[in-house]
Amino acid sequence: MPVRANEKIAVIGLGYVGLPLALALAKYYPVIGFDISKPRIAELLRAVDRSGEVEPDVLRSSTLSLSCDAADLAGNDVFIVTVPTPVDDENKPDLSALTAACSKIGKALQPGNIVVFESTVYPGITEDFCGPALAAVSKLECGEDFFLGYSPERINPGDREYTVERITKVVSGQNPDIAQKLAVIYGAVTNGNIFVAKDIRTAEAAKVIENAQRDINIAFINELAMIFNKIGLSTHDVLAAARTKWNFLPFTPGLVGGHCIGVDPYYLAHLSRSLGHEPEVILSGRRINEGMAGFIVQQIDKKLDHKPSRILVLGLTFKENVPDLRNSKTADLVKLLEEKGHVVEVHDPCADLDEARHEYGVELHASMADIEPVDCVVGAVRHAAYCDFTAEVLEGLLVAGGLIADLKGMWRGVTTSAGVRRWNL
Ligand SMILES: NC(=O)c1ccc[n+]([C@@H]2O[C@H](COP(=O)([O-])OP(=O)(O)OC[C@H]3O[C@@H](n4cnc5c(N)ncnc54)[C@H](O)[C@@H]3O)[C@@H](O)[C@H]2O)c1
Repeated sequence: MPVRANEKIAVIGLGYVGLPLALALAKYYPVIGFDISKPRIAELLRAVDRSGEVEPDVLRSSTLSLSCDAADLAGNDVFIVTVPTPVDDENKPDLSALTAACSKIGKALQPGNIVVFESTVYPGITEDFCGPALAAVSKLECGEDFFLGYSPERINPGDREYTVERITKVVSGQNPDIAQKLAVIYGAVTNGNIFVAKDIRTAEAAKVIENAQRDINIAFINELAMIFNKIGLSTHDVLAAARTKWNFLPFTPGLVGGHCIGVDPYYLAHLSRSLGHEPEVILSGRRINEGMAGFIVQQIDKKLDHKPSRILVLGLTFKENVPDLRNSKTADLVKLLEEKGHVVEVHDPCADLDEARHEYGVELHASMADIEPVDCVVGAVRHAAYCDFTAEVLEGLLVAGGLIADLKGMWRGVTTSAGVRRWNL
């Protein structure tokens, strides 16, 4: 059945991925953005995006309509699903948001519609899990009455260069006709910068390996940090030298949190195990990265000569310059330092104070002005606000003989007084 021209599009899940995409598509198509979270829709209607990805003016001037009423999904032609795909407590894929989204879309589905998934999954989820879920609710036949597509999202929150409009968009469809239609729709927002993958499974696999590859590369560097630490070398100093080779990959050591790099490899591992293959490289990378907070805490604890020491951790978000607190490994670091008997204070210029308290029980300092000098400062997240710290600022945060643990190597170029002890990864 042919799909109509001038498609009406519904984007389901207006988070870091869905909102920028819905706004970009709304420049070319009638678009409704749907989210189950009433507070999220309410804040967007007030032109506030707490994820910091979209400016109020962009929200105010857009034709995007917003709803948390599933009845508003009726009458659309293309449904784009951008809901979360986390893991559960055993690091197994949690597909509950996908299931819920399929159920709502299924009720609105009409012959000729296309349902495109952008959420990161492992190969097979779109066709073997979502297709049947949509068919069961809609009583329509998948591949006959309605069609599937998969277009992985590649945006990098906080990144103003590689925005949804400026990156090559991989698209795939259940058949060549659907893939072509999706290439046209997405091509409108990416200026034709589209790669049509061979099929849906190929596109699903391409996305999940992008993140698994990053995770493994960072794990390698983290393992190097553990080795070099034993011989008193700074990994950052070693990398600065090694990076001068043209084909050396520029990864750096650190905590791997967030909802993508630290999660998606488990999706791939789950698939692998379900096929009877034990994924060694993928999971050993995960183990190293998961153990990084423990390694760092051990090193800091060894260097502190009394308990409790007062420690100031700078940065709680999972990466620099974003307010995203999901799967924060700094939160693990704080907990482990406290378990060692230390008193830990935390500051983050981007994170929301209430969210930090609610998610991790961490009371963030609202400002650095009221922080008394501590025994140790841990630079955990490379926020722009911290990168500019001078020796004077750093030393002002410390008591005499204090320790600076510069996990991100952001103060390597800052020369501090002889009494200040320094450690970096
Ligand atoms: N954030 C990224 O950098 C990024 C990059 C590439 C891919 N991805 C993938 O994209 C997907 C979405 O990630 P995100 O970071 O935008 O998540 P997010 O948590 O920021 O946003 C998801 C939104 O979906 C809503 N939602 C949850 N269940 C829903 C449902 N059943 N119906 C409608 N709305 C629902 C939530 O309320 C939330 O607003 C995930 O699979 C993620 O792995 C994320």
